[in-house]
Amino acid sequence: MENQEIEMVTLPRIGDKAPEFKAVTTQGEINFPSDYKGQWTILFSHPADFTPVCTSEFMTFGVMHEQFKKANCELIGLSIDGIHSHIAWLRTIKEKIEYNGMKNVEVKFPLIDDVSMNVAKKYGMVQPGESTTQAVRAVFFIDPEGIIRTLMYYPLSTGRNFDEIYRTLIALQATDEFGIATPADWRPGDDVIVPPAKTSDLAEERMSGKEELDCKDWFFCTKKLDKDTVLDKILKK
Ligand code: BEZ
Repeated sequence: MENQEIEMVTLPRIGDKAPEFKAVTTQGEINFPSDYKGQWTILFSHPADFTPVCTSEFMTFGVMHEQFKKANCELIGLSIDGIHSHIAWLRTIKEKIEYNGMKNVEVKFPLIDDVSMNVAKKYGMVQPGESTTQAVRAVFFIDPEGIIRTLMYYPLSTGRNFDEIYRTLIALQATDEFGIATPADWRPGDDVIVPPAKTSDLAEERMSGKEELDCKDWFFCTKKLDKDTVLDKILKK
C-alpha cells in the first residue's frame, strides 16, 4: 500500500524524457511519445467524463484543436474512464451541449482510456490529497524530441485557461527558434529578453548602448522581435 501511494505521486519533471506508454484512445491505439516524434504534444488529464467543468474544457480544446495543429502540436486527453464512456461523452458533447457560444463541437484529438491508471500514475496525475480515483487537471507540454518542457497542475474544481496554454506553447517555441526568453505576460510582437551577460566585459558593453538593446540594467535587456517573424517561423501555412 505504501509503495502504491508513492507510485501515485511520482511526478516527471521539466527536462525529463516523457514516460513511454501504449494506450487505447478514441482515435485508435497510440505509442507515446514515439508516434509524435517531430511534433509538439500537449498531454492533459481531466477527472471524469460527463462532468461539467471537464465538458466546458473539452468543448474549448475541441474548438481550438486546429489552432494548436497549426503550431505543430497535437492534443491528447486522458481520464480514468473506459473507451465506451469516452465515446458516449464525446457524442453527447457534439449532439447535445451548447455552452458559451460553442455548439456541435466535435473532439477529433485522441482521448486515452486509462481505467488501469497506467498512464496517470506514470505522469503523477493521481494526487491522493485531491482524489485517489480521479486524475487532477494536469497539462504536460512535450517537445518534438519527447522532452517535457512545461507542466501545469490544477485541482478538480478549477477549469483551465486555454489561452494561457496556447500562449505557453508559442513562448516555448519562440525560445527554441530565437534563443530568447519571454517576460511576464508575453505575446508575439512584445519585446523579448536576451540572455543575461555572462562576463563583466559583456555587462559593460550592454550598458554602453552600442547594441540594439533596451537595457534597464546590465542583467535585464530586451530587444524587439516582430510578431510576423515569430508567427511565420512557428505557424504552418
Ligand atoms: C467537473 O468536471 O465538473 C468536476 C469533476 C470532478 C470534480 C469536480 C468537478
